Amino acid sequence: MSDLFEHLAAPGVQQLQPYLPGKPVEELERELGITDSIKLASNENPLGASARALRAIEDCYKNINYYPDGSAFKLSSHLARRFDVDPACLTFGNGSNDVLELIARAFLTPGHSAVYSEYAFAVYPIVVQATGAKARIAPAFDEAHPAMPMGHDPDALVDSIGDDTRVVFIANPNNPTGTWIEPATLAAMFDRIPDHVIVVLDLAYLEYMDEHLRPDIKRLLNTYPNLIVTCTFSKVYALAGLRIGYGISHPEIADLLNRVRQPFNTNLIAQAAALAALDDDEHLEQSIKMNNEGKAWLEQELAGLGLAYLPSMGNFITIDLRRDAAPVYEALLKQGVIVRPVANYRMPKHLRVTIGTGEQNSRFIEALSAVLA
Ligand SMILES: Cc1ncc(COP(=O)(O)O)c(C=O)c1O
Repeated sequence: MSDLFEHLAAPGVQQLQPYLPGKPVEELERELGITDSIKLASNENPLGASARALRAIEDCYKNINYYPDGSAFKLSSHLARRFDVDPACLTFGNGSNDVLELIARAFLTPGHSAVYSEYAFAVYPIVVQATGAKARIAPAFDEAHPAMPMGHDPDALVDSIGDDTRVVFIANPNNPTGTWIEPATLAAMFDRIPDHVIVVLDLAYLEYMDEHLRPDIKRLLNTYPNLIVTCTFSKVYALAGLRIGYGISHPEIADLLNRVRQPFNTNLIAQAAALAALDDDEHLEQSIKMNNEGKAWLEQELAGLGLAYLPSMGNFITIDLRRDAAPVYEALLKQGVIVRPVANYRMPKHLRVTIGTGEQNSRFIEALSAVLA
């Protein structure tokens, strides 16, 4: 590309590598002239949205000539009751990615640094770099770690904090590794983080975790006022296309985040659908059940194929092919199966697959067996 304008951009933006989304089904079908392909590339909920959310959308879409409620009052009240916090603790985002960006914008400057783990979710480097702040990347556990290969190393995260550090990002579980941190280890880590460092605990896959591994959000927030928990409606609540997520924090932190937030960053339909989805316990349980069953089945099949994979508490499994994963990814595309290569995470031998419906999982395993044969 020419350099007509690049030199004009902020230094952090000049070096920025854009986020690589999963390949859309339509794009693959257009490129290869095939139909009936499946996408297991973006950790979406294969069950589809809750019927209640869909009804809520039907009930409200005719009002889209009006701006949404900028404070998301109804959703905010509902979530505040659910988490037993004051509504002033909540910050809404156009997806939780938006909240991650608000955090970076509110707390980071070129004179500061942020800490995150090697192999951590790709949005952290992007939002940090865009502010011009320095990234301090904590080494992850190595591939041979007996319990959490390539997972966040809590000691390394704390040890990477410097005098200039303002924010630490922790994904629990992390994407793309699927690895997690046990609640007691998490608390022990937070005990070691100075009060003036903002700790972001990204719980995008919270509901998929085994219950005993889910952090006690209310207790953590009460104990660590420097904590921001981020959650999303994109995963188990199956509303990825509507873009809505939120942060929970000390009200003073929420106030700072809300200062840099666009007034109408979550739309009217997303707010209504999210509110309805929260009340659909059946959809939630079904989604978790489908994921657990799919995960057990896929793990068994992968082991049957002699393939290693990282332990996961998310709705995806990251397979260690122990060879260049790019040709396998390309060959799967030709079979109409879209998964996610993760070479951009410096994991060129891994492929991440979203846990789909039983039918999609079978189709993936069949295609993978054929490709590897
Ligand atoms: C760890 C993690 N955090 C946050 C997100 C952002 O999700 P959203 O912006 O859709 O809420 C994702 C999405 O894949 C994720 O994997």
